[in-house]
This record gives sequence, structure tokens and C-alpha cells, in this order.
Amino acid sequence: MGRKIAVMLVMIVALLLSVSCDKNDNSNNQIHETSKKSNEKISANTGVDYINKKILIVYYSAANLKDVDAVSSATAAGDGDGATGTFAKYIHDRIGGDIDRIVPDMDYPLDYDHVLERAKKEKNAREYPGFSLKTNPEDYDIIFVGYPIWSYDMPRVIYTFFARYDFKGKTIIPFNTYGSSLDGGTYDKIRELEPDADVVDGLAIEGKSIDSSKKYVEQWVPEL
Ligand SMILES: Cc1cc2nc3c(=O)[nH]c(=O)nc-3n(C[C@H](O)[C@H](O)[C@H](O)COP(=O)(O)O)c2cc1C
Repeated sequence: MGRKIAVMLVMIVALLLSVSCDKNDNSNNQIHETSKKSNEKISANTGVDYINKKILIVYYSAANLKDVDAVSSATAAGDGDGATGTFAKYIHDRIGGDIDRIVPDMDYPLDYDHVLERAKKEKNAREYPGFSLKTNPEDYDIIFVGYPIWSYDMPRVIYTFFARYDFKGKTIIPFNTYGSSLDGGTYDKIRELEPDADVVDGLAIEGKSIDSSKKYVEQWVPEL
């Protein structure tokens, strides 16, 4: 009799233990799931919280450049957008929001040497070339701003962009393509131009590697 009671007691304890383990497992899973879900919208790389924010991806890309020389590492753009345009579309595919292209008022030449000449002249004269845009960036909370590096800097039309709008209280996320200069210190320049905005560290991708670089964009920004 005593032995039977002991066996029954052991079985009851074992049953209770297994129930409590199941419970712990479930709650751990739930915590894991919950934290995974809330982190999904906050990029580990930029620290930006994208939940319920209006997002705009705006970019300048020099399409259709011909005779791009190998020494400069500049990308041959082909028809339509160049490397920065492709980068912008990767971000848009991932995060959604609106996408808009900066179209300079002036037609740039279609060959690399002449664009370079023109870019250097604009830079030296600190020009503010005009441009058009379909959207108003001031209507958005988070603005991705994309450009190629030109002469170790942003194209001057991007300076016009920052001069034209009030980005106070907005989040600006730069992105760029380059031949060898990485971001060329341009993210810090944007911080100087926009002291009242939160300018986070951007992502720079080599122009000629853009076709195989979607994965880096996917690691950089969350899917919304
Ligand atoms: C006028 C001009 C100047 C450039 N200057 C630089 C430079 O100083 N440093 C650099 O790394 N790449 C430079 N590049 C290369 C571009 O940044 C690179 O090819 C970029 O991916 C082009 O982007 P897009 O195709 O969107 O226009 C220059 C390209 C052009 C057309």
C-alpha cells in the first residue's frame, strides 16, 4: 500500500513538472515572438523606428552616361536610372512609401568627361542648380536621400535640395553610390546642413556592384 502511494506521488509530481515546463516553454516562445515582432520595424543598423511614419525615398541618379572611363570607376548607367536609381528601388521594394526622382532643370551632358567638367564647375562656384520633384518632402516624417558621389562630394543639386526644404524634426537617411570614395564624408556634411534634423548614418554601395547588392539593402532596412 505504502509503495503504491509512493508511486502515485512520483507520478503526480512528474505530471505537475511537465505541465509547468510546457507553460514555461510557451511563455518563452511568446516573449521571443513579441520581441521579434516589435524589433522588426526598428532597423538594427539605423536605429530608426518606421512604425506609422510617412516615408519618402528621393534620389538623384545620372542616367544614360556614355563613355564612362575605367579609371574613374564611374558606372555606365544605360537607359533610365543609374546605380543610385537602382539602390532607391531596392529600398522602395523593401520598405514601401513614396519614391521620387530629382530632375535637374538643366540637361547634363551624356558623356562622363563633360559631366565631370560641369560638376567641377558647379562645385567650385558653389552653385545651386534648380530641379523639380513631384512630391513635397516636408509632408513626410522619414526621408531617404540618395545621390552618387561627384568629385568627392554630393552633386550640387543635392545642396539645392537641402536648402529648399525645412527638415526640422524629420529623420533623414542618406544613401549613395560611389566609384571609390565611399560616402566621401557627405553624411557629416548633411548633418551640418540640417542641424535640426536627425541625420542617421547612411549606406554607401559601390556603383558597379549595385546589381548584386540588394541583400545589403535588405539587411539595412526592415521589410514593412
Ligand atoms: C561627374 C562624376 C564625378 C564622379 N566623382 C567621383 C568621386 O569623386 N568619387 C567616387 O568614388 N566616384 C565618383 N564618381 C563615380 C560615381 O559616384 C559612381 O559611378 C556612381 O555609382 C554613379 O551613380 P549613378 O549611376 O546613379 O549616377 C563620379 C561620377 C561622375 C559622373
